[in-house]
Amino acid sequence: MAHDSPFYQIVGHPGELHFQLQSKTTPELTLRIPTNVDIAAVIEVLSNKSNSEFDKSISDATAEELQSIAQRWTTVNEPLTHMNFLVRHNEQPLGIAGLGWIGPVNSSDAEDQAERAGAAGVMLQPFARGKGYAYEALRVVFDYGLRQLGLVEIRLGSHSGNLPMKGLMEKKFGLQPAVGTEESVDQFGNNLLWVVKREKWLSINN
Ligand SMILES: CC(C)(COP(=O)(O)OP(=O)(O)OC[C@H]1O[C@@H](n2cnc3c(N)ncnc32)[C@H](O)[C@@H]1OP(=O)(O)O)[C@@H](O)C(=O)NCCC(=O)NCCS
Repeated sequence: MAHDSPFYQIVGHPGELHFQLQSKTTPELTLRIPTNVDIAAVIEVLSNKSNSEFDKSISDATAEELQSIAQRWTTVNEPLTHMNFLVRHNEQPLGIAGLGWIGPVNSSDAEDQAERAGAAGVMLQPFARGKGYAYEALRVVFDYGLRQLGLVEIRLGSHSGNLPMKGLMEKKFGLQPAVGTEESVDQFGNNLLWVVKREKWLSINN
């Protein structure tokens, strides 16, 4: 049984309708797996072009593709392949945060499901930015993935031109990118990659 997180309380269990992670420092802030009633809110976040300027995975998606992404997020599968949350302040949706991918830590050994990793992201509507909610949501996601799901590491990719994201990772989390090249971008348009390791995270956040 994992040690309690210093950052959030877990309400319910994944798959249950009322499952959510509630911030301990900002109790009005909650992360929950979208239900059918949240699909419109998720699509609103994903379809806002000012949210996807640096995110090639969704900036060119059609309305049907966004609908299908949001629908997929309402499901919790076993083994987990993703765990994305709607971030809310009281009842108001602010954005999304979560693990868009969960899988074997070593992609060359896709059969080995024992050691698993995740890829994280966060996206807040412009009105919700600059208030520390992105930091709070992301540290909940990091902690849930590493502590509760037992992931070995969580990766987060971004583009060096995304100054708010760079500031969030480097100034707020104090993390330097493991990979950073100005020249080459990956298929998602990212040229920076941060890696948060479970052992290190748990040793400094207990
Ligand atoms: C990335 C994002 C989640 C950051 O959220 P945020 O609430 O704006 O975060 P903050 O304002 O707290 O910024 C975090 C830090 O970045 C820095 N920062 C913010 N905006 C900046 C800018 N325009 N230029 C330089 N630094 C900036 C600041 O140092 C800030 O720390 P501070 O609060 O101590 O000043 C938000 O901008 C967003 O949703 N963007 C669109 C989606 C996206 O690009 N997501 C990243 C892909 S994973």
